[in-house]
Amino acid sequence: MLTNMFKEENLIKYKSVVEKITNKIKNHDGLIRIITHNDADGLTSGAIIIKLLTRQNKKFHLSIVEQLSEDFINELGKENTINNIISKNESKGSDDHNNSNSVLYIFSDMGSGQINKILENNLNSIILDHHPTEINDIEIENILQLNPHIFKIDGSNEISASGVCYLVAREFGYYDLSVLAITGAIGDMQHLPFIGLNKFILNEGMEKQHINGILRDIIYNCYDISITDSILFSFNPYIKELKKREQIINLLNKYNIDPNKIYLDGEDKKNLEKALSSINPNYINELYVDRYIINHNEKDGHYLMELLNACGKNGNAQLGICTALGDENCIKEAKKLNYEYKLNIVEALNKLKLNHKDNFDYFFGEKGTTGLLAGLLAKDRPIMGINKDENYYKISSRGNHNLVSNGLNLTEVMKLTELFGGSGGGHSVASGGKIPIESLEEFLDWADDLIGEQLKNNM
Ligand code: C5P
Repeated sequence: MLTNMFKEENLIKYKSVVEKITNKIKNHDGLIRIITHNDADGLTSGAIIIKLLTRQNKKFHLSIVEQLSEDFINELGKENTINNIISKNESKGSDDHNNSNSVLYIFSDMGSGQINKILENNLNSIILDHHPTEINDIEIENILQLNPHIFKIDGSNEISASGVCYLVAREFGYYDLSVLAITGAIGDMQHLPFIGLNKFILNEGMEKQHINGILRDIIYNCYDISITDSILFSFNPYIKELKKREQIINLLNKYNIDPNKIYLDGEDKKNLEKALSSINPNYINELYVDRYIINHNEKDGHYLMELLNACGKNGNAQLGICTALGDENCIKEAKKLNYEYKLNIVEALNKLKLNHKDNFDYFFGEKGTTGLLAGLLAKDRPIMGINKDENYYKISSRGNHNLVSNGLNLTEVMKLTELFGGSGGGHSVASGGKIPIESLEEFLDWADDLIGEQLKNNM
């Protein structure tokens, strides 16, 4: 039961905020501006809100952004001021007090770290987020905030932003959207295994028969591409010895597996286990995964997440939204894009050059692939992937749970960008930011000192 997920004082607060959010949406007649993030969790969050608002006959507009910058919030503020002037003039002399020009803003997968800026711009808002909060309260002037951190629930492990959006959707009875919540949580790597509110959402989706089952299977069976491509493109497990097509084909042939086969069963799976063990027995540990079979035009939750991720990372977030919404042509298109994207990553991986600082490693890469590559390489030391974007560098920093338990906090590290006129934030284990081009070297030195400080007592 949902009520068991909250300690008593928090349950009262939780019930109050979801009721207020539900009423705020129901009672709003004007435009609703949704602002969401371009990763898989952000796209599924956006799709959940779109489905909810469509079913409630609401007018909405969606913007998908990579970061909720101060400039962007200021732009929203300007637009909002103009709308308010128009509505005041229109309602003058009229008995109709229903302010149809006022705008309601829904921020998903972002907003909690920017509340002061949203307040400053007087945006009538709902924030549905799981990142750390600037103000840890459910109601701040005209902002309603639903965020697990307020209820002392871990937003990096127990619920993602799409899960938070689902908590609102279920108040309307839209349990089918649990499918998207689970997909978003997989995107944020919260499924190893699902715990807390994620587990509650998974169970609810299964009870209501929108999630059709959990299938223990080899990861490569999630996709509808050849086993050769699946191994080449898959980074969990990341088999560094198999990142060239010929190597994979040779190995599969040696173990009597048809390299063009799409789905491996029975004997093939056993042969694959033997083949991978011959390289390193540890690879077998990551070979089997829980596949979430969902009511969606892409039936595999894991694959759907990958498609969304590829769309977001390749600047085609709108395709991601339509894919999340279930459009068959978009799913086909997203599969093509994902294929190309994975080819690019494999290529980038094969030519990547690591630079070393005392306490972390970094590399320069291409936009859209650096975060993923940094995540793959973050084994014993934190990694930063850097790419040039107009007049700044975008940085993705990644650690792992071991490094975090030894003191690593990449949120603090990426916040250093602010000292140089950049911006940054995220989670202890995965954080991002940007920095003006001329300040990169200095930032890297500062980051090196801070990471050294964080890890000094435990390494
Ligand atoms: O951009 P990247 O994928 O490296 O971001 C890693 C994490 O950091 C994501 O969860 C993202 O939302 C978060 N982030 C943030 N503030 C920023 C940049 C990234 O919260 N300025």
